Parts: sequence; structure tokens; C-alpha cells
Amino acid sequence: MSEMAKLQLGDRQLELPVIEGSEQEHAVDISALRAQTGYITIDEGYVNTGSTQSAITYLDGENGILRYRGYPIEQLAVNCDFVEVSYLLIYGELPTRQQLDEFRQKLRRHTLLHEDMSAFYDGFPRDAHPMAILSSTVSALSTFYQDSLDPRDDEQVELCIYRLIAKLPTIAAYSYKKSIGQPFIYPQNNLNYCQNFLRMMFAVPCEPYEIDCDFVDALNLLLIVHADHEQNCSTSTVRMVGSSNANLFASISAGICALWGPLHGGANEAVIRMLEDIRDNGGNVKKYVDMAKDKSSKVRLMGFGHRVYKNYDPRATIIKDVCNRLLKKRNIPDPIFEIAQELEEVALSDDYFIERKLYPNVDFYSGVIYRAIGIPMDMFTVLFAMGRMPGWIAQWLEMHRSESKRIARPRQIYTGEKERQFKPLDQR
Ligand code: ACO
Repeated sequence: MSEMAKLQLGDRQLELPVIEGSEQEHAVDISALRAQTGYITIDEGYVNTGSTQSAITYLDGENGILRYRGYPIEQLAVNCDFVEVSYLLIYGELPTRQQLDEFRQKLRRHTLLHEDMSAFYDGFPRDAHPMAILSSTVSALSTFYQDSLDPRDDEQVELCIYRLIAKLPTIAAYSYKKSIGQPFIYPQNNLNYCQNFLRMMFAVPCEPYEIDCDFVDALNLLLIVHADHEQNCSTSTVRMVGSSNANLFASISAGICALWGPLHGGANEAVIRMLEDIRDNGGNVKKYVDMAKDKSSKVRLMGFGHRVYKNYDPRATIIKDVCNRLLKKRNIPDPIFEIAQELEEVALSDDYFIERKLYPNVDFYSGVIYRAIGIPMDMFTVLFAMGRMPGWIAQWLEMHRSESKRIARPRQIYTGEKERQFKPLDQR
């Protein structure tokens, strides 16, 4: 018989089943709590609440471990390309050569955007944030591709998956081209995923464009380390929207909005703004760390801290290493990288950060690589969204295929006024 937890409520005792995961994580199953007692639980920010059981990503924040479908992120980062990792996340196993070829082929067939969609870009102000364009355009895919909207039809869902992964780089690159007034560059399907994206971003029709393989490798790695991170804010949003049986385009569009926030994916942009601010104010790292410790300043060290990691984020380790190698190999001196390393050193030896177990997260060094590649700052979070796409899709699929799927609908404890009588306007 499995372990039971006992809950004492007044003179009543309730037995609650304990669930154990494959890595010996434990949870108290409270699904019968309200029916049996009338009580609910409260957990603002879901700090202690598991929203689901999932077989996709394992994360041990105390020991800095991250695995997709059981494979350590460090192994995937050196052995795979992003499309292969996408297949792993979505279908649960590493593909055979034939499966991978077929998957690549299907993605290649869907890279183009419907021509009428380019008119959308004319409607956005030129200085619109590309994350706003991304979420709007992904949502608009559901108007152009109405043959892939039914979440209960496996073939439609499959088609929707190819469309999303294949079109996201095109949508993203178009938003950049629009912002700088250059013509859109169509995808070229003999190129791989990252090559194609870089070409659509940086090529112009009047000149030949040579794809830089160091940048392709760095981008590929960045996309892999962002590909999934279990029940984070944007993924939970994708699941929540999807739980109402909204289509996959709509669910992903909502996830993109959640990712945009500076406490989540938007932190990569905020980190570079912070580092530039430090540089422009004389490079005094210690002063900035002191400000971040002072609660009245409202300043936080962006790219530091994580809800789950209470150790060095393994993704940050990988990214810092790539950063080091890329900048050295290409001889790109970047004072921002130097300030970042200094900031990390000062923070990691400071009691405030030690006591709270605040370490660099995935966003701390990623922006330095994006800068080296030439990607503008407001596109950083867009790149995060491109990386996170297979994770969002895998989590959405897992939810839909779960026998226990229900609409996500939390409860609350009401703390407002008790019933009172309406007063007409002239008596208030
Ligand atoms: N700088 C200074 N202090 C911090 C920081 C930080 N970056 N992060 C947390 N703290 C402090 C808090 O003030 C709090 O201190 P207290 O106990 O004295 O009140 C303590 O550490 C715990 O912080 P919480 O905000 O309760 O932690 P939570 O888990 O809710 O938040 C979060 C995690 C949002 C990531 C937070 O660490 C943060 O704001 N970091 C900066 C933004 C950032 O880098 N976000 C990207 C995260 S990775 C991702 O989403 C892809």
C-alpha cells in the first residue's frame, strides 16, 4: 500500500495519498480535499503546488540538474541539433535517422508564411516590440490555417505542430526586417533551421550572404538549452489556455505573452540593459549589487535567482562556456561580458545572495551571445520563444492526452465585502 499523509482538521482526520515520481519526488494528492472537507488550499505563486504529473522534463533545482526525457542537457547540447531535440521533447524518444529526416522534411515544407500575412506587418508601428508582433502573428495563424485548429484531431494537431515550429523563425525575422525597413527574405529550405533563421534576419536581396557556422552552432545550442523547463510561467499558461480546448496556435500565443515579462523570458533583454547601465555609469559593479540588496531601491539583479534553482542553473554554465569560446575564437572583445563576469563574482561572494541561494540563471549570459551574433536586444526574448516552442508543444500535447485532463480552474478564498444593499446613485 502506498504512503498516506494525515491531515488533522479540527476533530477530523483525513488520509491523503502520497504520489512518488520516478526521481523520488513526493507530492500529497489533495484532489479529494474539497469534496471531503469543504476546504481548499492556498499557495500564491504556486510555490508548493504541482499542477500536473509530467514525463517530459526533470529538474532538480538543489543539485542543478536538467534532463529532457531523461537525457542530461549537457549531453543533448553537444550531440544534437535543435530539430532533433524538438523531436525528442514532442514524441518522447530520440528519432532514428529516418524519423529525423522525415521530421526535418515536414518542417521544411511549412516555413513560408501565407502571403497575406505580410500585410499584417504593415499595420504594426515600426517600433513595435517584436514579442507583441510574435504573439499577435502566432494568434493570427489560426485565421489562415483553419484546417489545423481542432485539438481533438491528431492529424490537425500534427499539422499545426509543423506549422508552428517551421514558421516561427520566419515570423520572427520578418518582424526584425520590418523594424529596420529592409525587405523580407523568404526562407530557403535547403538550409538547416538556424542557418535559415540567420539568413532571413541578416541577408539582403542585393548582396550575397555568407552564413557564419560559429553563429549557427551558438544559436543551435541556445535554442536547445531553452527548449523546455517543465511547469514555468509560460508553459503553465500554454497548458491553462489549452485546457479550455483552445487551439494550439491560441495557446502558444498566450505562452509568448507570458514569456515576455521581465521576471520570465524578458529577463535576457533586461540583463543587457542592466549591464549597459552599469558600464555607462562607470562600471561600478559593487554599487549595483548593493542597490539590488536594498529592498527600497526596487532594483533586482536581472538574470539572477530562480524559483526552482537554488544552485547554479546548468543552462547558465553551458551558455557561459559557449560565450567564452565564441568571443575568444572570433576575437570579439565585449566589455559587457567582462562586467557580467565581475558582477557574478561579486554577487556570488556576497552574503545576501549566498543566504538566498541566488545564482545566475539562463538569461544572465545568453544576451552576450545574441549581441555577438548581431541580434538586437528587443529580439532576445523572441529567440527564447523560438527555443521554447517544442517544450510548449510537448506540454500541451501531454495535457491533451492525459486521461485526467480537466479545464484548469483554480479556486480562491474571497476576502471582499459581505452582502450589502444597492444604493441608488443620488444616495452615495
Ligand atoms: N536580485 C535581488 N534579490 C533577489 C533576486 C534578484 N535577482 N531574486 C530574488 N531576490 C530576493 C528577493 O528579494 C527575496 O528576498 P527576501 O527573502 O529578503 O524577501 C528572495 O530573494 C526570494 O525571492 P522571491 O522573489 O521570493 O523568489 P521567486 O522564486 O518568487 O522569484 C525570480 C524568482 C522571479 C526569478 C526572481 O529571482 C527574480 O526576480 N529574478 C530576476 C529576474 C530574472 O532573472 N528572471 C528570469 C528567471 S529565469 C526564466 O524565467 C527563464
